[in-house]
Amino acid sequence: MSIAHGIKRLGVLGAGQMGTGIAFVSALHAKVPVLLHDKSAHQVSKGISLIDKLLAKDVSKGRLQPSDAEEARARIQTVDAIEAMRDVDMVVEAVTENLDLKRAIFREFAAKIRPDAILATNTSSISITKIAGAVIPEGVSAAGEEGKAASGRVVGLHFFNPVPVMKLVELISAVQTSQDTLDRSRAFAEACGKEVATSQDVPGFVSNALLMPFINEAIMCLEKGVATRDDIDKTFRLGMAHPMGPLQLADFIGLDTCLFIQQTLYKGTSDSKYRPSVLLERMVDAQYLGKKSGRGFYEYNN
Ligand code: 3HC
Repeated sequence: MSIAHGIKRLGVLGAGQMGTGIAFVSALHAKVPVLLHDKSAHQVSKGISLIDKLLAKDVSKGRLQPSDAEEARARIQTVDAIEAMRDVDMVVEAVTENLDLKRAIFREFAAKIRPDAILATNTSSISITKIAGAVIPEGVSAAGEEGKAASGRVVGLHFFNPVPVMKLVELISAVQTSQDTLDRSRAFAEACGKEVATSQDVPGFVSNALLMPFINEAIMCLEKGVATRDDIDKTFRLGMAHPMGPLQLADFIGLDTCLFIQQTLYKGTSDSKYRPSVLLERMVDAQYLGKKSGRGFYEYNN
């Protein structure tokens, strides 16, 4: 028997590419009303126009009835503060990768969102256990019933970019995550049309612990002159049927994001195999951040 996710209303924090994609699949596939918030009004309007474009494309391709698109769009509401999310059954955080920022946000969620709501993070590498530790009220024992109830609702729900296209959600359990939170989060991701793979809370989880060394090795190959950019990418596109070679994929993810994840892996494991390449560091220093900045290993006309 499938488990009901019980999410009647969802909050999404962060209207960047990931948050927007999560709002989109939740409203369209899981058919759940979504409250979307970002501290930048500009980001919110960019996110909403992307959602409108995606729905219009699905209608024009005959995959979606205009009335279904309208209903999905009507399920997404933008709100101007976390307070407006107080009655949601789940909130998914998709803001910048920064542990202190995420811990502060989760503390705020814990104070402002109903106590039985699931608190999920879309982080790509930060420890879910460290984030969960932030929601325990001061003076409360982490191991007592109150502490366990507070942190047991925190979970990692890692979507992949572009969210509307990629079929996977990685489900990560913090040390504290309750079985009920895991079961309902899995059911919700499936209702969004995704398949779920689970990972322990290790730096980078399964996905980025394997992907980032691959990308880093590709950058080192380029750095050492082993092959050209185009030949490195061609090797994986044509030799291994990857949709993008590793250098193009790094640009697509964002070189700053790749560097951040690699630094998290290196710091979290002290294993030299995760040490970021100097070339990647220099490119980020130069603000060549990949597709989003118009220049990375390739150039883009955004
Ligand atoms: N948002 C929504 N849909 C998008 C999109 C976006 N940003 N980019 C492309 N698409 C859709 C297109 O609209 C098109 O849909 P359609 O078939 O309905 O028309 C479909 O994807 C294919 O797009 P294109 O024909 O334009 O281009 P490609 O065939 O080259 O596909 C791609 C684009 C889907 C991005 C493909 O190149 C790909 O799969 N690349 C690898 C992506 C990947 O590995 N993502 C994971 C990154 S790692 C990650 O997210 C984890 C994080 O923690 C780092």
